[in-house]
Amino acid sequence: MNIHSSAPVRPALKTSKRYSAIAIVLHWATALLVISMIPMGWWMVRAINKPDTQQLAYQLFQVHKSIGFAILALTLLRIVWRLTHPVPALPADMKGWERVLARATHVAFYGLLLAIPLTGWVYISAGWAVSTDRPLMVATSWFGLFTIPDLPGLESMRSLAFGAMGAHAYMAYGGAVLIGLHVAAALKHHVIDRDGVLAQMLPFLRGKGHEDHHAPTGKALLPRGAGVAFVLLIGLVGCWLHLPGLRAEPVPVAAEAATPAAIPVSAAAPASVAADINATAWTIDKAASGITFSGSHAGKPFNGRFDEWTGDIRFDPADLPGSKAVIVVNTISAKTGDATQESSLKNGEWFNATRFPEARFETTSFKSLGGDRYEAAGSLTIKKTTVPVTLPFTYTLQGNKAEVEGSVELDRAALDLGMFSDPAAEWVSKVIEVKIAVTATRK
Ligand code: HEM
Repeated sequence: MNIHSSAPVRPALKTSKRYSAIAIVLHWATALLVISMIPMGWWMVRAINKPDTQQLAYQLFQVHKSIGFAILALTLLRIVWRLTHPVPALPADMKGWERVLARATHVAFYGLLLAIPLTGWVYISAGWAVSTDRPLMVATSWFGLFTIPDLPGLESMRSLAFGAMGAHAYMAYGGAVLIGLHVAAALKHHVIDRDGVLAQMLPFLRGKGHEDHHAPTGKALLPRGAGVAFVLLIGLVGCWLHLPGLRAEPVPVAAEAATPAAIPVSAAAPASVAADINATAWTIDKAASGITFSGSHAGKPFNGRFDEWTGDIRFDPADLPGSKAVIVVNTISAKTGDATQESSLKNGEWFNATRFPEARFETTSFKSLGGDRYEAAGSLTIKKTTVPVTLPFTYTLQGNKAEVEGSVELDRAALDLGMFSDPAAEWVSKVIEVKIAVTATRK
């Protein structure tokens, strides 16, 4: 029985003898990318918590997300192309059930190609890692070129993260089974039916005794419904099977690490403003000066710098009570050379750069340590947290030009930096060293 016998014939636009070159390229590009994503996803979720493979897995997460977004874009393009360009009809002598299966598989593929990346996007936006059952926010940098924002309003939604990743994983593995069936069917057409179906997607196979006997296909509601039902079913099963993980209590974060030693502004160090700040004023040579920072991330050292900052310095070794310095750093200008780190640093849990664009170090308390060595005791404010900071530095003067070099180790927990995703410093070192090198001339 032909289940399409009573259905209306498709409009002429929808059928043709072969696929266009664009349709063929989109098909194979998507296929190759998806086939690489399944083993990659499988491996990285298992490798991320093992010390030996953590670093590579961390990098693969970014590659995985980048390819995933590329697949989403290609799929949207493909759907638009499919709706506006004719495609070959199925072979006329195909049995009814084969047609249903073929069409249902195609619809299911489109559904999966949309639903898998979208559930991945929802998962990362929910900011909760299912493998460790802890909060986690890592920005998405598309192959290091630009940042893809998280979906708004989903942050810290643990149950959503579990559900989305359950659906994501089951749909991905369900898709792998479907790819297997799809390849088997294509080979059957080529080797047994010899009807030219595979050659439509692999044009170099044409002309080897295969025939093109194609008939227009009617509107196929049943296969479409079956394809959509497959995607929904497998996605819901994935969500359901992740519920046991969801019912468990979240892993408690180490109490000490979870409570940053934030110091209220009023309690912070030397705010004793000197009555008379009359020491020499200096003009900073920005090209010869810099503020850098370093630490480790995922077991690897990183080095960063702030591109934008200003300094108001009055300093004279002979008039320490009359000296002061105010350094204001534009936190959005933090650069490490790693697009993911740079995007993550702007996030709420790190610098929250949109709400708090400035970090400020202020001191009016200088002490000589002998020779060219000095110490400035002041306060550092990042976001709403202020901590006392003592900066040892060297000062050398040649003619009108002074050079100052200093460094200090900061406790990022005390400054409430990265305490949502990594309060126990498993990924990013707790100690961040900040170095300042200033070349200045007398005003
Ligand atoms: C067609 C595209 C995609 C395929 C085939 C795919 C496939 C997979 C697979 C097989 C896994 C392993 C699941 C497990 O064993 O638990 C996985 C995990 C993951 N995927 Fe995808 N994925 C795709 C797109 C995306 C996109 C677009 C994103 C993000 C925007 C994403 C984010 C993730 C993340 C973050 C994980 C790790 C989950 C964890 O924390 O354990 N994926 N993916």
